[in-house]
Amino acid sequence: MILIANSEAWPGFQTTVDRLRAGERGPDPLVAGISCVEREVTVRSVGYGGWPNMLGEMEFDAGVMDGTTRQVGAVGALRDVVPASAVALQVMRRLPHVLLTGDGARRFALECGFAAEPTLLEDSRRVWWERLEKELPPADLAAFPDIPLAPLSRAITDPERVRDTTVFLGQDSGGGLHAATSTSGWAWKYPGRLGDSPIAGAGFYADSRFGAAACTHTGEMTVRCGTARSIVLALQLGRTLREAVDLAVADLATLDLGFLAGVVIHALDAQGNHEVVSFRCGPAIRYWYWDPSLTAPEERVARTV
Ligand code: GLY
Repeated sequence: MILIANSEAWPGFQTTVDRLRAGERGPDPLVAGISCVEREVTVRSVGYGGWPNMLGEMEFDAGVMDGTTRQVGAVGALRDVVPASAVALQVMRRLPHVLLTGDGARRFALECGFAAEPTLLEDSRRVWWERLEKELPPADLAAFPDIPLAPLSRAITDPERVRDTTVFLGQDSGGGLHAATSTSGWAWKYPGRLGDSPIAGAGFYADSRFGAAACTHTGEMTVRCGTARSIVLALQLGRTLREAVDLAVADLATLDLGFLAGVVIHALDAQGNHEVVSFRCGPAIRYWYWDPSLTAPEERVARTV
């Protein structure tokens, strides 16, 4: 057994450890942990604590993959429902589809018994509006939201509040490798924008025979490179985990047009090795690690490339 997750996974990491220790298999223990993170308002990148889109609306993205069956469930731009990862799991369990977005995702969540509720914190609303006040001329502010939003999409990017994500990757007691992700996405994103967190192959991928990977930070990068899938495919082709991750990083590094920014890759192989690598996100990226040889989860520092 093994579990890794990004540094902001602390509210749910122990929940997942306990469920893995109890012998629970499949992606459910990961979703149980990530749901705790989504409910924790002090985690400012996901769930109730996340940031809204340009219109001041919360839109959640989440994905789940069972690496043994290679079944996937995901939701994108889901409104009014937390935890999004639990809705993604139900997409996997109940539908012949893998990804629902927007109104359809919300409708499905309510059919499953999730509650619709306010998800925008007053503090998030205040920070969002202050940002608009800073960027918009008075006439545009008065007309808001009936103005073109596209010109704003670069101007109001906030380096302190971008594209963070919660990811859990685990190997259960049966050797099954699984992945779960959740995020409120890029703060002040264009409405309807999906990042990589609901995109299997980009933000997450798992195959119990070979490995699993999940990414945080800039979804616009990993969607373009199919990063998570490329790592697992490299493992399938016989590369070591470090070689597989470094190949994915080298591929990201070849992007030179479009929006360019950092990515953090989390990865496991079927032999129990793990890698967490910070690409252009700086040296201070941390993550959580646990295996049964440890008495308690450890917070470790990612390799910087
Ligand atoms: N990695 C999260 C996002 O791009 O939304």
